[in-house]
Amino acid sequence: MKKYSDRRLSSRDLEPVQQFLNMASYWMSFTIHSAVKIGILREILRGKGKIADLATSLRCNPFSLKLLLDALCSIEVLTHSHGYYGLGPKAPRSEEQLRYIDYCLQFDRYRLSAWESLHESVRKNKPAVRSIYKTKSRMRTILLRRLHEEASMKGHLIAAALTRKCQLMNWRKMLDLGGGTGAYSSILCSQNPRLESTLFDLPQILALARRENLLQSLDRRILIKEGDYLRDDYGDGYDAVFLSNVMHQETPESIRAIFSKCYSSLSPSGMLLIHDRTLNDDGISPSGVVFFSLYMLLTSGARCYQRKEVTNLLHKAGFVRTRWVIKNSLLCAHKPA
Ligand SMILES: C[S@@+](CC[C@H](N)C(=O)[O-])C[C@H]1O[C@@H](n2cnc3c(N)ncnc32)[C@H](O)[C@@H]1O
Repeated sequence: MKKYSDRRLSSRDLEPVQQFLNMASYWMSFTIHSAVKIGILREILRGKGKIADLATSLRCNPFSLKLLLDALCSIEVLTHSHGYYGLGPKAPRSEEQLRYIDYCLQFDRYRLSAWESLHESVRKNKPAVRSIYKTKSRMRTILLRRLHEEASMKGHLIAAALTRKCQLMNWRKMLDLGGGTGAYSSILCSQNPRLESTLFDLPQILALARRENLLQSLDRRILIKEGDYLRDDYGDGYDAVFLSNVMHQETPESIRAIFSKCYSSLSPSGMLLIHDRTLNDDGISPSGVVFFSLYMLLTSGARCYQRKEVTNLLHKAGFVRTRWVIKNSLLCAHKPA
């Protein structure tokens, strides 16, 4: 006969179990993915809020659609009042934000099976999949579009911070290393009419950006340089090197090599600008960056770095006067005069 514990569990004992299971659950994630796939948020953003109208335009069964909408209300993505659904406090608020979210979630679904191998990656310290840049997957296009949208949303904030704190208006020549479609180059050059940017990226990614009509040229002030930043020469005489979202995909050894090449390519007093997701020195915050770091282990064998690790690597490469222009996101370092 099976023996059961005779200890009575109170609801207090069970609370942490339920909370733990809630955290481990993917039900909420899939509910949100489905809402975006169906187009619910876009439809409500455009003003449709009655269940019957929503069911018709989204081609859904009204009863099951209501179940999904109510679930979204319970997590404050939607609100419900007097028979109308509206956007809740946790919903995106513009078409632009929705477009970006759509690309992010499409890419997340593509990476879903990799997450099932996280335990293997942790055991072996190896990525579960090949780097997206080395494949011919059509998801490269989604990734490129996602990065392009992100840059279009954040670029003006970065340009404003660089104008105030790093004399963007005095720059004449910059290098956008691993610059993707050149969206950041384009925004920075549009702020400073005398600036010319060299967009450096892998030939296959630049070709894809061109095919997808995403490659920026801004009156030919963006010069294209195909290459591998670990092997090829960057050119020289730059006032600034912009290194955006590159560090987190590289190992410390590769970063050392990249920093040293950036240093050589800059003019005296030139600046290296690092735009990336950076961890606090406790290593466990901000939470979004901690999880992104696990995602990088899974997909490229790399990780995010702590603030002090980045500054140490910069000082070792010869850079001085490092300072945060935007907290945990944009760091400026100088080559001595
Ligand atoms: C995460 S994306 C960042 C793109 C852009 N800088 C941004 O912030 O949106 C990383 C970029 O690095 C490029 N890249 C990856 N490995 C590279 C290499 N070995 N040489 C040159 N570019 C590389 C990729 O093609 C991609 O465009």
